Amino acid sequence: MHLTREEEGMLAGEQGVATQKAMQILVALGKIYDAERLVRVSSVQVSGVSYKNLGDAGLEFLSELARDGRARVKTTLNPAGMSLTDWRSQGIERGFAEKQLQVIDAYAKLGVEISCTCTPYLAGNEPGLGQHIAWGESSAVAYANSVLGARTNREGGPSALAASLTGRTPLYGLHVAENRVPTVAVDVEAQLRLPEDFSAMGYHVGKAVKDGIPVFRGVGRASLEDLKTLSAALASSGGIAMFHIEGLTPECNLAPRSLETLTFSRKELAETSSLLNDDGAPDFVSVGCPHCSLAELSTLAQLLEGRQVRREFWVCCSREVKRQGDEAGYSRLIEKSGAKFALDTCMVVAPVEELGYRVVATNSAKACHYLRNAGLKVRFMPLEECVMEATRSE
Ligand code: F3S
Repeated sequence: MHLTREEEGMLAGEQGVATQKAMQILVALGKIYDAERLVRVSSVQVSGVSYKNLGDAGLEFLSELARDGRARVKTTLNPAGMSLTDWRSQGIERGFAEKQLQVIDAYAKLGVEISCTCTPYLAGNEPGLGQHIAWGESSAVAYANSVLGARTNREGGPSALAASLTGRTPLYGLHVAENRVPTVAVDVEAQLRLPEDFSAMGYHVGKAVKDGIPVFRGVGRASLEDLKTLSAALASSGGIAMFHIEGLTPECNLAPRSLETLTFSRKELAETSSLLNDDGAPDFVSVGCPHCSLAELSTLAQLLEGRQVRREFWVCCSREVKRQGDEAGYSRLIEKSGAKFALDTCMVVAPVEELGYRVVATNSAKACHYLRNAGLKVRFMPLEECVMEATRSE
């Protein structure tokens, strides 16, 4: 792989130990994927933040890098395993909290913005069409490539951080225009009325397409919330990092004429929704996977106004969107109902299974997928039904 003189210097340790380690990671990746050179990135989203997933080995790795490493481009952070300020009221144990705060300290020393959200594009990190970025967090990757038209591969925690410390990433995969072309068409015959319908469709298509690039035909229109949850679901049941929607997403014209075609009809919609429902009454309700938008906070405020929640109810969102919700008066109505904002974290990366809950109701197919993997039962339902479930007296 070709390196510039400056990049050679980074690799030789001229710019410090952390930069050298970061460059070693990028060069190794570049060789594996046969990248011709590195490309400069304009932003990074780092995943691998929850101590639940990082453990002590991850914390040690970060602490070493933080000795002399420094982010060179705007770098935002994925959710952590708890709220950084209200972890006690979330029932998080002190031992876990202390380790999680050490992880956050290391990221702060590295110059990473402690944004702790999986929707960085709603919190000030919104790259534009054609910009090269290096993002980890599969739902945000799919959204950035597909909806924003930025260019990123699905980075892991170390490779995203390496991109941040050097300002570069290997030029391969979805950084290259010819690799962004659809590989399969999905004719959408089902009526997609709610974001949860998009979530179910993403879950179904992700399983079928695995790591291809679907182009959806016949969708008509889609809201930010529809696209956000579609991105997450596609990337959870499969490894999809990019999709197109005919007439809607910025690179949908890349579609070749003839493609293998799948159909998503009412039948697949009903089957997927039922597949994501286990038995049992929910004892925990959570929405905001991916983290809620301001419009979702508005809907929640309307639904919860004058009602009281009767079981644990988490509304996951970024501090930035919560701030906007405060200004608009939505947060007050939500909190008055007894629902809790889960800032900096979510129902998947927090150790919910250790808090004693057994059955989680949520409006996200992605959350259902990962919560099941963690041994919990799940109930997939629209946002409005989540509120009904949380406020049901029996
Ligand atoms: Fe975000 Fe957690 Fe879902 S990180 S996409 S809310 S699993």
